[in-house]
Amino acid sequence: MAHDLVIVANRLPVDRVAGPDGKMGWRASPGGLVSAIEPVMRAGDGVWIGWPGGTEQHLEPFDIDGLHLVPMSMTPEEIENHYEGMSNGTLWPLYHDVVAKPEFHREWWHEYVEVNRRFAEKAAELAAPNATVWVHDYQMQMVPQLLRELRPDLRIGFYLHIPFPPAELFQQLPWRRQILEGILGADLVGFQLPGAAQNFVRLVRQRVGHKTHRDLVYLPDGRTVRAAAFPISIDATGFDDLARSEIVARRAQEIREALGNPKKIFLGIDRLDYTKGIYARLRSFGELIRDGELDVDEAVFVQVAVPSREQVEQYRLLRDEIDRLVGRLNGDLGRIGKPLISYLHSSYPREEMAALYRAADIMVVTPYRDGMNLVAKEYVACRVDEDGALVLSEFAGAADELRQAWLVNPYDIDGMKAALLSACRADEHELTKRMRAMRKQITQHDVKAWAESFMTELDAEREHTKTVRSADRS
Ligand code: G6P
Repeated sequence: MAHDLVIVANRLPVDRVAGPDGKMGWRASPGGLVSAIEPVMRAGDGVWIGWPGGTEQHLEPFDIDGLHLVPMSMTPEEIENHYEGMSNGTLWPLYHDVVAKPEFHREWWHEYVEVNRRFAEKAAELAAPNATVWVHDYQMQMVPQLLRELRPDLRIGFYLHIPFPPAELFQQLPWRRQILEGILGADLVGFQLPGAAQNFVRLVRQRVGHKTHRDLVYLPDGRTVRAAAFPISIDATGFDDLARSEIVARRAQEIREALGNPKKIFLGIDRLDYTKGIYARLRSFGELIRDGELDVDEAVFVQVAVPSREQVEQYRLLRDEIDRLVGRLNGDLGRIGKPLISYLHSSYPREEMAALYRAADIMVVTPYRDGMNLVAKEYVACRVDEDGALVLSEFAGAADELRQAWLVNPYDIDGMKAALLSACRADEHELTKRMRAMRKQITQHDVKAWAESFMTELDAEREHTKTVRSADRS
């Protein structure tokens, strides 16, 4: 069947996993991308092409909760080279300010292109004439170009969920020109922040040699491509409703009790990723306890680390580092029944996350670099009593919108300690003033508004190109 809307992403919104009884089933995938796109898909009759995790081959399309999903299988070599290699060993660290050292391997790159080609072919097969195809994220940057070669009739949008680096870093990529040309297959290219869109346009001018003006790129074939910022958001009302529900309120109370009813609960929730700044954050908190600024009888830090990319070397090393740090802090500074860090290496359903957000007095989000960070926005959405403090890294995209957070430089341990203390000691009036403003921001700019603005722009860009082309012909 042909579809008017096709979503292409590396991952499906659900993962294929084995249950305790060994039977295969589905579980929600990790990460920001999935939570952002799911509501968009539900609104239309689209189809979603993506990898369900694992190495199972020949999976049939299926529907789950009203979503049409088309699983793309990957071989062990494709997982190693395309997913763990080029996507997460090269592009992820390069695009995140080289927080870890990117590796460049030609076999990774070749497999990346081949996987992108397969995804593009599947999209070409499923899209109705003149349909819209929305391609997502850094694992799929060649898809727009490959798809346009197969189906020039399509309206193609590309959205990058992670940062797009400055030219000085992007330039390291041996395949920099190919990637820029890959993305330029789209009619509209969306980024989280205006600076990323500017980086992209500048690179296209310098490296591909196309004419550009402000946010527009003029291609030799007469097409124009627009690059602009569309800061992503969350289903703010959905989280607000969930947080207000009886079951979540009760669970939040249970969590506080289980922690021994401390005066202040600090919370971090992240994929276990080296970009997230978990180590420095826990160290800052540990020093505050050590220095006597905070008391282990009165304050606790709950850190949820969602397992992620566990086959990639850098992620394994990180896990060991965090394990060691948590053990050392609890060993040195904790007391019987009073660890200062309550560390959970696990993923949780939305309800449990909402309960954690409600239970926490201070949410600590301190990535070294982050495209947006939806956890920060989810916390705000769940603070239905307009209290709670957010400590937020300046280097998360969310800092552009959540100006009333305690903004910190995550590389500055003393600065982070000061912000944690100040957030912890803020009075009710100040907390409400800040939280109210942040709640207003995310309610007015939710994920629905994000998707609508992207789609409206995509229509407009396509119309613009058509008009320019017919004017050229006449
Ligand atoms: C980030 C990326 C997504 C990715 C997610 C989970 O949010 O932007 O594209 O899907 O992390 O990572 P994973 O490697 O498990 O897909």
